[in-house]
Amino acid sequence: MCGIVGFVGKTNCLPIVYNGLETLEYRGYDSAGIAYIYNNKINIIKEKGKLINLKDKLDFNISSKIAIGHTRWATHGNANKTNAHPHQVGKFTVVHNGIIENYIDLKNKLLKKGYQFKSETDTEVISALLDYNYKLEKDILKSINKTKNELVGSFALGILCSDDIKNIYALRYSSPLILASFTNGNFLASDIPAIINYTNKYILLDDLEIAKLNEDKITIYNKDLKEKKIKYHIFNGEKTSVQKNGYEHFMLKEINEEDKVFKETINSYFDGTLKSLNENFGFLKKYKKFDIVACGSAYHTGVIAKSLIENYANIIVHTEVASEYRYKKCFYDKDTLVILVSQSGETADTLAALRKAKNDKIKTMAIVNVLDSSIAREADYVIYTKAGPEIAVATTKAYVSQLTIFSLITLYLAYINNNLDKIEINNIIKDIKLLPKLIKKEIKNYQTYYNIADKIYHNKQIFFIGRGLDYANSLEGALKLKEISYINSVAYQAGELKHGTISLIENKTPVIAIATDELIIDKTISNIKEIKARNAYVIYVSNTKPKDIFYDDFIQIEKVHPILQSILTIIPLQLLAYKVAKNNKCDIDKPRNLAKSVTVE
Ligand code: G6P
Repeated sequence: MCGIVGFVGKTNCLPIVYNGLETLEYRGYDSAGIAYIYNNKINIIKEKGKLINLKDKLDFNISSKIAIGHTRWATHGNANKTNAHPHQVGKFTVVHNGIIENYIDLKNKLLKKGYQFKSETDTEVISALLDYNYKLEKDILKSINKTKNELVGSFALGILCSDDIKNIYALRYSSPLILASFTNGNFLASDIPAIINYTNKYILLDDLEIAKLNEDKITIYNKDLKEKKIKYHIFNGEKTSVQKNGYEHFMLKEINEEDKVFKETINSYFDGTLKSLNENFGFLKKYKKFDIVACGSAYHTGVIAKSLIENYANIIVHTEVASEYRYKKCFYDKDTLVILVSQSGETADTLAALRKAKNDKIKTMAIVNVLDSSIAREADYVIYTKAGPEIAVATTKAYVSQLTIFSLITLYLAYINNNLDKIEINNIIKDIKLLPKLIKKEIKNYQTYYNIADKIYHNKQIFFIGRGLDYANSLEGALKLKEISYINSVAYQAGELKHGTISLIENKTPVIAIATDELIIDKTISNIKEIKARNAYVIYVSNTKPKDIFYDDFIQIEKVHPILQSILTIIPLQLLAYKVAKNNKCDIDKPRNLAKSVTVE
């Protein structure tokens, strides 16, 4: 949440910082601001709303060589100009990603010392605390160090001090921050897209380390303010992965990459032989229970995995959203593996759940997309999904890559527990090979889903129903639709509708009914008939053409083994949500109130 960028170098920095912020807007877009040094003075420009609102206010031709910028996802105080970052108090100007939990106590202390505050933010308190500590310590590094020890919460900070107009200082704890160098200067940023046009080499700042950047070099200080040797990491992805490449939206581009993402994720762990699965997932044998913990769509992949692993591998799986799991009593023991699923690897609640398990000496495994992200670094085992950078706030291809990993894990666990015979295993392997083609075929069939979207986009509410695995698919279908189109879309277990929700069905209320599991397909069809009898507008999504017509529209999806089926089920639902949002003129890649990387609790 919130994107920060800083640059100091030999070249005009405002275009660099502004362009960097553009690539990080997925992290928040409630307001934006830049502080830059010009005429030996710190100047601040900020605006409410998206970054574009800042563009006209900036003079990109002035020769400023040092700046920090911010794009905000509001936590403390409204999304207005006063609360926009950077925040300046006394000699310190700060951009911040994270949350300071003890900011009220700190603010009260600073008010007593005579400080005054203009905004409602926790960030302004950091600026004041830095200024106060600077007065005591008379040294910038020492002041930052003292401040760091007084802050409780999460923070990635870019800091300017008016007594030192040649350096940017940075600090992080539990919020992401990378540093990078190129011939013309040095960067700090929340994420790789901000630097990728200049370099693919970056440095990861560790928790509680402080960095100092000037036009010549980056210096990192450890917890004891001792200089630390710098270690570079290389980003291997392509530059074009953070560009739209002719697509109207990142979301559409990313859906169109799903066949490639599936292939790359499979190829990283499976060469067609069970031996390769054993090499990559052999460590799972040690565990008798799994707790899968995640947020949002990643949580939905955990709901699907629970159904698959329990059915096919006979292993107990408990799936829970991270914000609940982190505060509840957990019945895990040494036989339990806690699996954290996260695209960004930075989601605050998922990270906290991981730390809780580690604290209780329970082993953890991360299924993560972003290399070296916090969750990846802290888990005992890491399995990387190969989705590449995902920019649209609503996840699509990363979701598919997470499902792909769970398919492989299910196959492996089912195999070692002797729950699948040879023929079934061979059929699954055949389906794995076929899947990229089938994914492509479904994407190519987009006009069918778009036509349906054109019929239902004006509705105020849309229901999704399904049983078992298809209920899990419904959860994700409903989330995709609501998050980008703002239509109230809710998922229900098909059999549960008549216990209350059916009263909401009116003439032509759209119901998207999913039925792919042949064992219970007839049961779901009976439930659909019940709602059809109440004049719902039924969109039936299935891998099997039914014998009679009980629907208004039919989306036929490809049929594969249930271990892989959900990957194909979600594609029409993603494209349907996309077109509904487009018809409603919503900001598809940056939906209202959301952010991609949720680094606050
Ligand atoms: C946000 C995103 C979702 C994502 C969730 C978890 O809400 O908008 O698309 O599923 O966070 O994010 P993670 O990075 O942990 O997968």
